[in-house]
Amino acid sequence: MIPRDFIEELKQRCDLEEVVGSYVKLRRAGANLSGCCPFHSEKTPSFTVFPDRHFYCFGCGAGGDVIAFIMRQENLDYTGAIEFLAARAGLAVPRQGEVREEGVRRSRVLEMNKTAARYFREVLNTDAGAAAREYLQSRGLSGATVRRFGLGFAPNDFGSLYRFLRDKGYTDEEMIAGFLCRRSERNNSMFSLFRNRIMFPIIDVAGNVIAFGGRVMDDSKPKYLNSSDTPAFKKSKNLFALNYARGNCNEQMILCEGYMDVIALHAAGFPCAVATLGTAITPEQARLMAKYTSRVVISYDSDEAGQRAAQKALRILGEVGLQTRVLRMNGAKDPDEFIKAYGADRFRQLLERSSTGFEYRLDSILAAHDMSLAEEKIKASSEICRLIAGSYSRVEREVYLLEAAKRLELPPDILRQDIEREAGRMRREQKQQESRDARSGAAGYGDRINPDAAKNMRISRGEETVLGLMLLYDEHRAAIASGAVELQSEDFFTEFGARAFSAILTLERTEDGFEIGMLGESFSPEEMGRLERMRIERRALSENGISVLRESAALLREEAARRREASAEDGAQSAIERRRAALAEKKKQKT
Ligand code: GTP
Ligand code: MN
Repeated sequence: MIPRDFIEELKQRCDLEEVVGSYVKLRRAGANLSGCCPFHSEKTPSFTVFPDRHFYCFGCGAGGDVIAFIMRQENLDYTGAIEFLAARAGLAVPRQGEVREEGVRRSRVLEMNKTAARYFREVLNTDAGAAAREYLQSRGLSGATVRRFGLGFAPNDFGSLYRFLRDKGYTDEEMIAGFLCRRSERNNSMFSLFRNRIMFPIIDVAGNVIAFGGRVMDDSKPKYLNSSDTPAFKKSKNLFALNYARGNCNEQMILCEGYMDVIALHAAGFPCAVATLGTAITPEQARLMAKYTSRVVISYDSDEAGQRAAQKALRILGEVGLQTRVLRMNGAKDPDEFIKAYGADRFRQLLERSSTGFEYRLDSILAAHDMSLAEEKIKASSEICRLIAGSYSRVEREVYLLEAAKRLELPPDILRQDIEREAGRMRREQKQQESRDARSGAAGYGDRINPDAAKNMRISRGEETVLGLMLLYDEHRAAIASGAVELQSEDFFTEFGARAFSAILTLERTEDGFEIGMLGESFSPEEMGRLERMRIERRALSENGISVLRESAALLREEAARRREASAEDGAQSAIERRRAALAEKKKQKT
């Protein structure tokens, strides 16, 4: 456990406002600051930073202190978030006793991955790697590029990686968790998952080897084997080569589909290229890109699947506020092949000519309709109006409108009316949706965090009052810890409530006492958000005296007693029935 003193100092040094401000553009709104939430896509700000150094998003329910913020934002566990903040503040993390298992796991897996990457690199340079070296050469990769990306080779056998890692002290469990080896169901022996493959290490922005992609050298399937998610790695939250691209993307990033595309681009003088890890781009990845750049050029494969994926990427990138462009290629399947066939200069020209997302979509709509037919032209123009209306800025809408009017050969004023009507409708719909989301969140419908809450709203409200007060005020915690106000975790109806209650009380009873930041060790960021909501809702009320706590505790105790009675009655009832059944049985036997 990390000591409370340290957590307090850390929170002192890493001011929430400042930390959040480095990720989110915040505006002053009275005593608070507000901005667009970095954890979900929204256009009207519902993310709020309060003066007591807590944040809460009224849209998605994310909330907590600076540690909870970093856990979410940087995709780290509790210990990782504390280490991250400590590094930022120039503090060393002290430790008491054992570090919790998950923390050990992650760092062990990362260490093991680094060891494995070194192993794959070494094998590439032995006799066993001769064919692989030849393959890489045939793909036009220089020795320098191979070294820069740390490429390696997994030999064509089942046991050597396993033995190598075992001799370095890694356990079977660690190798399985890290997606490097698996246990055979047939003979129970351990074997390597990557065999006879070119190995691409995937490195995060901190320089950790978080996973591997492995490519076959012929046409066998699957072409690529990628690590599945491990304690060290979530595919949906990382990008290939971001470790290099992030320092080279002031102007823009290039987003490709494949590892080989990225490597070819970097080698050709475009070090701002990244790729997703064998999946379609996710909102998390888009937000990750938005941390480092403001503009992304999508450079997907030229086939139909690639173009469809580009449309989707446009939307996802646009939603996080990135400027987007789409690069179109003719005469080559992907950027790697294009550069090989036509050279870097031609690619640079394509890059310069890449069209904005709007132009690209405008072109697609116009191409899909026969503009010589009135009916088709009307359809196209109403699709284009919807497209323009979806843009959030009035200036942007005006610019697009003029462009569209020219292409459609229609007077701008006519289009303007349609667009503004459509934009108004969309805004209303969005507001409605946002308040629907907020309400359904608040009412606990489909509540994953506290699924029991919806079964009895009155009790769960009472629980929230108690927990909110305990999170807010020392004297309320003290009253419960001392027994001045009677309440036990068994009195809670929801499992989540009982767990939160126990955790707060346990911390309160330690020598150091309670600190909300320490709850992050036992609660997920989503759960922290829920606890934050309870705090905020309580604080917003003016009457928070001890009598409120007393009253709610009494409600919970009474309800718990009623439940116990009911289940005892059930028990008694069934005991009577059992006796009756036994008597009936005896009678039958007698006759
Ligand atoms: P080359 O064929 O070597 O040029 O690779 P590429 O990067 O051009 O591959 P492609 O365009 O076929 O695929 C793009 C990306 O999708 C790859 O870099 C992988 O991340 C992923 N991918 C491709 N094939 C597979 C597969 O069989 N399984 C998985 N999981 N991912 C794949
Ligand atoms: Mn390719």
